[in-house]
Amino acid sequence: MSPSLTNSPIQICPSDHPAAAEERAKRMTHLGFGHIFTDHMVVVPYKEGQGWGQGVLKSYGPIEMDPAASVLHYGQAIFEGFKAYKQPDGGIACFRPEANARRFNTSAARLAMPELPEALFLEAARALITQDQAWVPSAVGESLYMRPLMIATEAALGVRASNEYLFLLMASPSGAYFPAGVKPVTVWISDDYVRAAPGGTGFAKCAGNYAASLVAQRQAKGEGCDQVVWLDAVHRTFIEEMGGMNIFFVFQEKGETVVVTPELTGTLLPGITRDSLLQLAREQGFRAEERKISVDEWRAAVNDGRMTEAFACGTAAVITPVGHVKSRQGEWSINRGETGPVAAKLREVLLNLQHGLAPDTHGWMKKIV
Ligand code: PLP
Ligand code: COI
Repeated sequence: MSPSLTNSPIQICPSDHPAAAEERAKRMTHLGFGHIFTDHMVVVPYKEGQGWGQGVLKSYGPIEMDPAASVLHYGQAIFEGFKAYKQPDGGIACFRPEANARRFNTSAARLAMPELPEALFLEAARALITQDQAWVPSAVGESLYMRPLMIATEAALGVRASNEYLFLLMASPSGAYFPAGVKPVTVWISDDYVRAAPGGTGFAKCAGNYAASLVAQRQAKGEGCDQVVWLDAVHRTFIEEMGGMNIFFVFQEKGETVVVTPELTGTLLPGITRDSLLQLAREQGFRAEERKISVDEWRAAVNDGRMTEAFACGTAAVITPVGHVKSRQGEWSINRGETGPVAAKLREVLLNLQHGLAPDTHGWMKKIV
């Protein structure tokens, strides 16, 4: 098909071989996370001195890169994750994509990469979701996961910031992140490895953070766990976050339900789900606190009954309860390894909002179609 001629920052060049409806339906029958991709993607090139060039929406497929492209050597790569949800009126809306566009630029700045205008980030999302709207699943808990990324493409082996970059956006119909669905997970507290140190890149969503985490994630699996829990790098005492999600703890204090999440210290990712849940928890009548919490406090509070739940949260994970904790110092279970009422309530409130089943009083939903 010939490209449409517009002044849009994204030129639309539809695929000449999109999946037939039957094939698409077949691929979408068992949605897990991140292994099915839609028909299209968006690419936008950047050159120092020229800025961002013409974006193109085109058929999803491999990209060509020079073997000397600096991302392959020095790892200048950042990404984001947000979701598009089917709405009751048949439309499609994204949850807080502006917040992802902002965080993308925070990550870009930390990695000495160029910022992408927020309007371009959002326009790329609008174009791709509109083009591939048939790939947005409709069940509650399912969505179209949007994965923007930026990589350094200049062919140069000197260690310095690249002069050329590529922004890409792809989309993946998704269901539950964990293979077991929303069943509580078992976590491993890592004290052999750290994720991020002060002054490092912990607050940025850069590829290297995840590369460095994989050996710990493998160790966690070896210990029979689903996820690793990271401690602070300096004291190896305070809980920071999990492999790809933030963490919350639920306390019962003098008749009050208190949800606590580790404070943002610069070494953990400022999750958009985390920020949303702090607000939603308060609206549910819970007290919500951001503060340090140590492993000793976690274990002691579970033992004396003050802590009744723990759960992970993130775009991919939504809200996933933590049922069991393992570490070199011992093991403990929370709420007998079952989902607790606070995690269940917050999950329901969040999903209802995202799927348009509850009023969007915060203006968090961005209508696309
Ligand atoms: N922490 C890490 C390391 C992550 O990769 C993610 C996922 O994006 C989160 C936390 C949760 O962030 P968000 O709620 O913005 O998805
Ligand atoms: C997300 O929740 O969007 C994430 O990026 C987590 C993980 C898949 C890396």
